[in-house]
Amino acid sequence: MNIVVFGATGGTGRFLVERATQAGHEVTPFARESSRMASVPGRLRVVRGDVLDAVSVNAAIRGQDAVLSALGSTARNPAPVLSVGVRHILDAMERHGVRRIVALSVAGALRESAGFLFGNLSLRIARMWLPGVYREHRAMLEEFQRRDVDWIAVRAVLLTNGPPKGEYRVAVEGIPRWGLRISRADVADFMVRQLTSDAFVQKMPAVAY
Ligand SMILES: NC(=O)c1ccc[n+]([C@@H]2O[C@H](COP(=O)([O-])OP(=O)(O)OC[C@H]3O[C@@H](n4cnc5c(N)ncnc54)[C@H](OP(=O)(O)O)[C@@H]3O)[C@@H](O)[C@H]2O)c1
Repeated sequence: MNIVVFGATGGTGRFLVERATQAGHEVTPFARESSRMASVPGRLRVVRGDVLDAVSVNAAIRGQDAVLSALGSTARNPAPVLSVGVRHILDAMERHGVRRIVALSVAGALRESAGFLFGNLSLRIARMWLPGVYREHRAMLEEFQRRDVDWIAVRAVLLTNGPPKGEYRVAVEGIPRWGLRISRADVADFMVRQLTSDAFVQKMPAVAY
C-alpha cells in the first residue's frame, strides 16, 4: 500500500515509518523539516509540509491508499495541529477517495471511563495536567465521528521509549486493566497492523501492556 505518515519526525512517527516500511508498504513521510528524517533507513521520498497548510496536506494525500498519523501538539507547540490539521487531512482524504486513517490519540480525551478506579484517577490527573493537549485530541476524535471514512483512533495512556515487546493488550471499552503504559515502538506496531485489518474500523482501541 502507499502510505503517508504525518508526524513522521516525532517519537512515535519514526517508528511508524520504520514498521510500515518493514511491512512492505511504500511510505511517504510528511515533515515540516525533511532534514529531521535523516536517521530513517531506506530510500524514502519525504514530502515537506505543514498540516496547518491545507495545500501541502492535499498534495501529500493525493495517490495514497491510507494515512498514518502520530501528530501532536505540546505545551511548547500549542498550535491546532489535531483540531485543524486533521480536518485538513480528512478533507483531502475525501477529495481523493482515500478511505483509511489510523491515528494516535490519547485515552481519556472524551472523558470515557477507564473501567477501573485507579485508571479513572490517572486519566483525570492527565487531563488536568495537559488541558490543551486533551482538548486537541477531543476535537480530533469528534471530527472523526462526523466523517464517513474508515478511521481508527488508537488510544494510549503513557508512551515510553522502551524497546518493543511485541505483546500488548487491546480494549475497545475503557483501557486494559492496570495498563497505563506502552512503548512508542509497540504502538507503531499496532497501528501499522490496522492498515490491513477491519477489526477496529470506526473504533477507538486502547493499547497497553
Ligand atoms: N507522551 C505520551 O505519553 C502520550 C500518551 C498518549 C498519547 N500521546 C499522543 O501521541 C501523539 C504522538 O506523541 P509523540 O510523543 O510521538 O509526539 P512528538 O514526538 O511530539 O511528535 C509530534 C509530531 O507532530 C509533528 N507536528 C507538529 N506540528 C506539526 C505541523 N504543524 N505540521 C506537521 N507536523 C507537525 C511534529 O513535527 P516536528 O518534528 O516538525 O515538530 C512531530 O513529528 C501525540 O498526539 C500525543 O499527544 C502521547
